[in-house]
Amino acid sequence: MGQKERSAAKISASVACTIVFVLILSASAFICFKKRKPSKKQPGLAFHNAARGKCMIFDLPTLQEATENFSEENKLGEGGFGTVYKGTLPDEQEVAVKRLSQTSREGLNQLHNEVQVLAQLQHIKLVRLLGYCSHQNEVMLVYEFVKNGCLHNFLFDERKGRKLNWNLRYNIIVGIAKGILYLHEDSSIRIIHRDLKSNNILLDENMNPKIADFGLARLLGGGHTQTKTANVAGTYGYMAPEYAIFGNVSPKIDIFSFGVLILEIVTRRKNNSSDDYNNTVNLLSDVYNCWTKDMTLQIVDKSLNVYSKSEVLRCIHIGLLCIQEDPDDRPNISSVVLMLTRDRVKLQPPRQPAFFFARDSSSVFEHARHGNYIYDKSDVIVEDNFSVNEVTNTDPYPR
Ligand SMILES: *[C@@H]1O[C@H](CO)[C@@H](O)[C@H](O)[C@H]1NC(C)=O
Ligand SMILES: *[C@@H]1O[C@H](CO)[C@@H](O)[C@H](O)[C@H]1NC(C)=O
Ligand SMILES: *[C@@H]1O[C@H](CO)[C@@H](O)[C@H](O)[C@H]1NC(C)=O
Ligand SMILES: *[C@@H]1O[C@H](CO)[C@@H](O)[C@H](O)[C@H]1NC(C)=O
Ligand SMILES: *[C@@H]1O[C@H](CO)[C@@H](O)[C@H](O)[C@H]1NC(C)=O
Ligand SMILES: *[C@@H]1O[C@H](CO)[C@@H](O)[C@H](O)[C@H]1NC(C)=O
Repeated sequence: MGQKERSAAKISASVACTIVFVLILSASAFICFKKRKPSKKQPGLAFHNAARGKCMIFDLPTLQEATENFSEENKLGEGGFGTVYKGTLPDEQEVAVKRLSQTSREGLNQLHNEVQVLAQLQHIKLVRLLGYCSHQNEVMLVYEFVKNGCLHNFLFDERKGRKLNWNLRYNIIVGIAKGILYLHEDSSIRIIHRDLKSNNILLDENMNPKIADFGLARLLGGGHTQTKTANVAGTYGYMAPEYAIFGNVSPKIDIFSFGVLILEIVTRRKNNSSDDYNNTVNLLSDVYNCWTKDMTLQIVDKSLNVYSKSEVLRCIHIGLLCIQEDPDDRPNISSVVLMLTRDRVKLQPPRQPAFFFARDSSSVFEHARHGNYIYDKSDVIVEDNFSVNEVTNTDPYPR
């Protein structure tokens, strides 16, 4: 081969190489483009965006299609803030679409920012907000779908309720407490739920609890930082007295509702009547009456036949601490989590709950017990023999 021929071969080889390279490049670009184009339309991306704390904006047709025009069959429930529908997005992802009932014009302007903030609150014990849709005066929030529905339906269904053994219930109680801990203390902004109740606790496929509707009172109630509100958003029966009567908002109103939740979960007691308020008042009084008479276990759900006595008693005790009348007496959520999860934590005796009426007042005062309580893992319940005054100097919640 001559010089000329060699360089010609070199040139043609490099040209061929270049052509092949360009071909590969354009082919891959084409493939990428093809792949990307449809996925841009697919709300499947919604999930990934949401996972990064971004909030998707859905259009109305997508949600109409997903929920089959908000059909009755897809209706999951009706809450204080609107109606919830099950939806399936084009990529098969299941979602829950909440159609808000009351939104004012001014509300809409703020909504975008507020929803962004809520979408950033991500915790395994919170129902994840994926995005929203606003159309004319209507607003819809799109949430992850949680499989087993709400705790209320589970607990008060005769058949399902029996399946909730003590370990599941304890796990639910601790899970809710951890969710509240995140809302109150660990998230970027402090969120006071204001409407904690068994309808707002959803259960996933492993029966782990997830708190729903957090931030909605803030979103729709107007005032953000104010500590008094004219719009009381809670549900009778779960509302702390200072909130129900004066509209005072503080984290302690969630603690109160959590206390009611604990007592509900342990006793599984709910009268079949529309009068939630009186039923709860009765429940709180009854549990406290039993506690002062040292007959606490009598009020525990009869379908719980195997359980750790000390764990159950400890939960009831913590429930009673949470529903005390004076908000300052109620423990904060980090104390609650400690009390629930640590062994040998000293619990102070609860004062009488809000809305209390004694069935038999003489017995209450006669049997009211003093000193601290320790519920040991081995089912041993130790009663401290300190006087109440001495105890105030010791830290009842070791760190
Ligand atoms: C939903 O309703 C609109 C009109 O309200 C109708 O045009 C559309 O076909 C309906 N879609 C389905 C899936 O039913
Ligand atoms: C229902 O309420 C009535 C009256 O308050 C009470 O006597 C009864 O024990 C309650 N039933 C249950 C199952 O709690
Ligand atoms: C509850 O009460 C309603 C009427 O108030 C009745 O229709 C329903 O059957 C009752 N449910 C149970 C489980 O007793
Ligand atoms: C609820 O309690 C109030 C106050 O005690 C009473 O007036 C009302 O009749 C009760 N309602 C029911 C349904 O028991
Ligand atoms: C919660 O209460 C405990 C005990 O009273 C206290 O030591 C702790 O500082 C409180 N935590 C917060 C965040 O207020
Ligand atoms: C307190 O201690 C006394 C003896 O010091 C004992 O007799 C009594 O039972 C104790 N009380 C409790 C509640 O443990």
